[in-house]
Amino acid sequence: MGYGPGSGSGSGVRAVRGSKVTHLALRNMKDQGERIAMVTAYDASFARLCDQAGTDILLVGDSLGMVIQGDDNTLAVTMDEMIYHCRAVARGVAAATGRAMIVGDLPFMSYQSAEDEALRNAGRLIKDGKAEAVKLEGGAEYAPLVSKLARIGIPVMGHIGLTPQSLHALGGFKIQGREAGQAERLKADAQALAAAGAFSLVLEGIPHELAAEITAELPIPTIGIGAGPECDGQVLVLYDLLGMNEEFRPRFVKRYENFAVRVRTAVDTYINEVRSGEFPTAEHSFSREPPGKERGPAARVAAAGGVVAESDSGDFALAGLGCVQLRPLNGGRE
Ligand code: KIV
Repeated sequence: MGYGPGSGSGSGVRAVRGSKVTHLALRNMKDQGERIAMVTAYDASFARLCDQAGTDILLVGDSLGMVIQGDDNTLAVTMDEMIYHCRAVARGVAAATGRAMIVGDLPFMSYQSAEDEALRNAGRLIKDGKAEAVKLEGGAEYAPLVSKLARIGIPVMGHIGLTPQSLHALGGFKIQGREAGQAERLKADAQALAAAGAFSLVLEGIPHELAAEITAELPIPTIGIGAGPECDGQVLVLYDLLGMNEEFRPRFVKRYENFAVRVRTAVDTYINEVRSGEFPTAEHSFSREPPGKERGPAARVAAAGGVVAESDSGDFALAGLGCVQLRPLNGGRE
C-alpha cells in the first residue's frame, strides 16, 4: 500500500491520497503477509486523524452505543444513528487522504428479522451513510444474506466469536470457542461466510490458537480483537486505545495514550485560566480595525507566524496559536 514520506514515524501524517483501500487491496495484503490495521471511528475529527495516520479500515462500530452514548451494551443503537455517524466519518476521511476504507456496522435488529429489510438497511449505510462496506455479526445462518449483499454490490465483513449483539444469549461478554464443539462451529461459520462472499471476517474474543487455524484456512483476511496475534489484522475501539476510560482495562486492549488524564488536565487548565482572567488575552480578541490593518496584538501574532482568527472577508476562522503549557492535575503522575 502506498505510504508517503515519513512512513513508520511515530506521529507524522503517513498516508497519501490516491491509494484507496478496497476489499481487493485487503486480500492482496493478506496474500503478501502485510498486517491490516483497523480502528473504530465515530466522528469526522477522529476519522480525519486516523486516516492521516494511515489506518487501513475505519469501522463505524455499533460500539458507539457504549463509548459515545454511554450504554452498557450495543443493543439500543439505531440505523439512523449509524447513518449519522457513518456520514461524519466519511466527511473526515474525505477531508484527509481519502485512503481508509469505511465500514459501517449493521446494528441489532436491522438485519436479523427479514431479508428485504436487511438489504434496505445495508443499502442505507452505503447510500446515506457513505460507508463503503457493511459489517454484520453472526455465522452460517447469515450466509444467504451475505451472498445476496455481495451480489448486489455491497461488500460485507463478517463478525464471529464474541458477538456483542448476542450478549444475552452468550450469557455476557465471554470468550468463545474454548470448547471443541464450539470451536468447530466457529470454523464452519467462518468457512460459510467466506464461501458466501464476505470479503473479511472479524474474530472477536476467541483463543488465539483457534484464530490462527481459521486465519490459515480462509482465503479472506481475518481481523482480530482479543483473538491473538496470528490474525491478518487487528481492530481496537479507538477510545480504548486512547485510554479514554480509566475503569475499562480488559486484557485484549493495549493503551497507546492516556487521554483520560490529558483531557482532564487540559480542561482543568482552561477552567483555571478562565477563572483567573488569564484567558482570553488581547491576542485572542478582535479589534475595531479591519483585518490586516491591526496594529495591536493580532498583528504581533501574525508576525510571529500565528494564525489570526479572522479571514480577509472578516469571517471567523480557525486560530492556531499553539498549545499552552498544561499544568498537570496530579503533579505529573499518571
Ligand atoms: O462495534 C465495534 O466497534 C466492533 C469492533 C469492536 C469489532 O464491532
